[in-house]
Amino acid sequence: MSTSLIYRNRTLYEVLMRGLYGRYYTARYRAVAAAIPAGASVLDLCCGPATLYTRYLRQQSIDYTGLDLNDGFITELTKAGGRGLVWDMNSDAALPAADYVLMQASLYHFLPDPSAVVDRMLTAARDQVIIAEPIRNLATSDNRVLAAIGQRFTNAGTGAQAHRFTEDSLDEFFARYAERVVRSEVIAGGREKLYVLSA
Ligand SMILES: C[S@@+](CC[C@H](N)C(=O)[O-])C[C@H]1O[C@@H](n2cnc3c(N)ncnc32)[C@H](O)[C@@H]1O
Repeated sequence: MSTSLIYRNRTLYEVLMRGLYGRYYTARYRAVAAAIPAGASVLDLCCGPATLYTRYLRQQSIDYTGLDLNDGFITELTKAGGRGLVWDMNSDAALPAADYVLMQASLYHFLPDPSAVVDRMLTAARDQVIIAEPIRNLATSDNRVLAAIGQRFTNAGTGAQAHRFTEDSLDEFFARYAERVVRSEVIAGGREKLYVLSA
């Protein structure tokens, strides 16, 4: 199955993300960046074009490593001076260790049960796991045209992603990690929810 065009091209990706998030586009990155102290090491899973690094974390002296299935994103990250690895999160391989292990807008790729991914993140993290996940997006839109675009453009090469989280289903998923949840909050004008878990 061919990889979505949007996941191959940084400019197209950013145009779609800006369309989806509107004036909250930068807020989603700022909320995650604010959870990471300067000087920490960070492992960013499903990093995409690594906008979090190039626009935010790079200024905070973060030791950053981004992992993504799509080599185009990783090549660009490397060119931008970051450390990147092509990596399939569906493999069982142990993740590189880091102080903070994070994933933004990607947990839905591992539905119906992303717990194996979160468990691997907890094993790799020395301090905290940070997950920010969309709870309202185009792929679940009642508008069938928008829903089709949202699903098609977020196919990473592993099949269209018809299933997403709502706030309720995300809360239900994280209930199993209740003892580790340090905080959770809705960010980016209600478009994503951020969870911070102790490692
Ligand atoms: C919606 S983008 C999020 C990118 C970035 N985290 C952000 O918030 O801007 C989802 C990313 O997950 C990646 N991805 C999807 N399935 C993956 C897998 N099995 N292993 C690694 N990366 C994957 C895609 O290539 C894409 O870059």
